[in-house]
Amino acid sequence: MAARRPIIAGNWKMHKTPEEAKELVTAIAAGMAGKSFGCEVVVAPPFTSITSAVAAAAGTPIGVAGQNVYWEDEGAFTGEISGGMLKSAGCSFVIIGHSERRQYFGETNETVRRRIEAAVRWNLVPIFCLGETLEEREAGETFNVIRSELTEGLRGVRPDDPLRFVIAYEPVWAIGTGRTASPEQAQEVHAFLRREIGGLLGEGFAERMRILYGGSVKASNAKALMACEDIDGGLVGGASLNAEDFLGIIREGS
Ligand code: 13P
Repeated sequence: MAARRPIIAGNWKMHKTPEEAKELVTAIAAGMAGKSFGCEVVVAPPFTSITSAVAAAAGTPIGVAGQNVYWEDEGAFTGEISGGMLKSAGCSFVIIGHSERRQYFGETNETVRRRIEAAVRWNLVPIFCLGETLEEREAGETFNVIRSELTEGLRGVRPDDPLRFVIAYEPVWAIGTGRTASPEQAQEVHAFLRREIGGLLGEGFAERMRILYGGSVKASNAKALMACEDIDGGLVGGASLNAEDFLGIIREGS
């Protein structure tokens, strides 16, 4: 594998109260204490639990991510959260364009692009999610869909630090279904993504940035996925909600 440090990120989605977030981060930190892992570890609690996750993560190697960010810095935008707010709450990462946002909340490539721009401006590391649906895969459209999500999401965005820009390939059919992409299927898309990013942002950038895989990652399949040349870690949903399961993936991904 190239010299890219993997990232294991837990997307908690709409789970965990502040008290539960504190417990979970504390348990993950305890499982990591005294050992050195080859990967970066990130958790993404819901907004209301960010502060307690950040407090519990203080002095540990665990980073905290928001699950979304709005592109304006402040104003009359009920229900939205700005990059500055995430930053001052202690986040260093932010998930953008998750398929659940695209499916249920009207997120488009253009809104994703604007959010990525805001994240870069606030020096938050975006975890830019993209991926095809089952219908798109079966229609042979996977690479076209990925290319357009990537190109449109990055239009006019020029991140300059490859270590502070992350993409997550999450095939929609593998999310929460127990149906993981095979390492070959995932590697094929990751290699394609890296080539496309090379064309957009330069080969040196593409070589150094991390591309995560997401979709039913568990300790039992993490090793085979992470062993693929272009897979640099995982974005984990269900299995990140329990410290033992998540620690199992951290061990396999290191
Ligand atoms: P699961 O790991 O539950 O399939 O969710 C993946 C995901 O959507 C992470 O963002």
